[in-house]
Amino acid sequence: MLSDVTDRRPMAQDADAALLGELARLLGPRGYTDDRADLEPWLVDWRGRVRGEALALLSPADAEEVAAIVRLAAAARMPIVPQGGNTSMVAGATPPADGRALILSLRRMRAIRAISPLDGVAIVEAGVPLSALHDAAEAQGMRFPLSLAAKGSATIGGLISTNAGGTQVLRFGPMRALVLGLEAVLPDGSRFDGLSALRKDNRGYDLRQLLSGAEGTLGIVTAAALRLVPAVAARGVAWVGLETPEQALDLLRRLEAATGSAVESFEIVPADGLALVLRHIPATRAPLAGRHRWNVLVESVAPAGAEDPRVALEQALVAAIEDGVAADAVVAASESQAEALWKLRETMSEAERADGMAAKHDVSVPVSAMPGFIESARAAVEARFAGARVLAFGHLGDGNVHFNVRPPAGTPNGAWLAEHGDAVSRHVHDLTVAAGGSISAEHGIGQTKLAEYARLGDPVRLAAQRAIKHALDPLGLMNPGKLVPLAPGEAAP
Ligand code: MLT
Ligand code: ZN
Repeated sequence: MLSDVTDRRPMAQDADAALLGELARLLGPRGYTDDRADLEPWLVDWRGRVRGEALALLSPADAEEVAAIVRLAAAARMPIVPQGGNTSMVAGATPPADGRALILSLRRMRAIRAISPLDGVAIVEAGVPLSALHDAAEAQGMRFPLSLAAKGSATIGGLISTNAGGTQVLRFGPMRALVLGLEAVLPDGSRFDGLSALRKDNRGYDLRQLLSGAEGTLGIVTAAALRLVPAVAARGVAWVGLETPEQALDLLRRLEAATGSAVESFEIVPADGLALVLRHIPATRAPLAGRHRWNVLVESVAPAGAEDPRVALEQALVAAIEDGVAADAVVAASESQAEALWKLRETMSEAERADGMAAKHDVSVPVSAMPGFIESARAAVEARFAGARVLAFGHLGDGNVHFNVRPPAGTPNGAWLAEHGDAVSRHVHDLTVAAGGSISAEHGIGQTKLAEYARLGDPVRLAAQRAIKHALDPLGLMNPGKLVPLAPGEAAP
């Protein structure tokens, strides 16, 4: 006889308790905790906007244990939320509100299994922090050419699963361009061993690419073979003041021509963004004497034996100033000066967060259209939402800026955003789509962009993504509620 819903609930709870018991036995005290204090930091997203709940935090020691966890969870129909450094901008690693989920952290899997300068490859486990890979590659005369502000806590698994961008995409592409091979556990518990890091492999659908940027919805990345490039011997880092984003893009093309495409980073920061950093971040100071409507941070590099990259950079900047493309510039004379300039860019988000909440957007349009978009979209948003203050900064060379909208000065941020935040975001996203762009250039969809993705995503693309999700994860247990919007009328699994 079928029991009714109220009868079934205790049975379901018994089944969940049995699963937790099995997991605790499998993983031992180092790999299993359901202590609320241990779980707490992992229940809230980095921006502090989305809170979830979970039954336990699992930290397996190896891929074998990951596979065992996935099989047990699948048998119990228990959702799994994989987590890296928990620095997602879109709450992509935050567990669901109903709390019936397990957080899976790969933080104990942090071996750098091999670094081969000859192959230009590093084999690393998913829990390795990005900065640890940087250090290990450097010790072998190589480097991993992807960097971002959260490098101390962001992990390789999280970077792959979110197809992270950062400040070197201009030259090397985003994370997926650096993934040569993957090892992963698929939703049925099977283990995919694709670590062989072949430079050429043309056997059809590419699992490595499917899992990159999948936000943990198709399986758990446990290790990766990553592309390394030779270490640089020297870098030139400059801070430039100029008047318009058009000038900035013009400057980028000039610098690329002058340096033989050695420009790796080209980041734009508006005057009020720099002001926020100087106000909120200790030990920062204005790099140029005057105030400039726009600033650019540029880095170019040179291999061993080549001329100091600062020479070409400085010459090109002098010419740009003479031609009226830039107003002022400073080239870092030492590594500590270079670090100080980078700090002004890398702490932008932190400074903005310290100043109060904003409606954040991460948009891309074709590179050539970005300068016009920044100015026209700012004017449109500020005209429609009286007093709103647009702060657009970031990766101009990639056609990607963080187009954030701050409430009017003196307004309680929370109340203003509660009233206008969704309308602001819809407006920004409509303008982006009208310009042929993407509403998520590098942060992913996660939870916070899901509704907008459902509203604006190309239906053919959405249908194909759902089909892939259903094919690989028919039970819908891998990071549910993220990335893949439900079809109209479709019930959540
Ligand atoms: C950045 O470029 O600084 C990051 O993507 C963070 C952000 O968007 O706030
Ligand atoms: Zn960014």
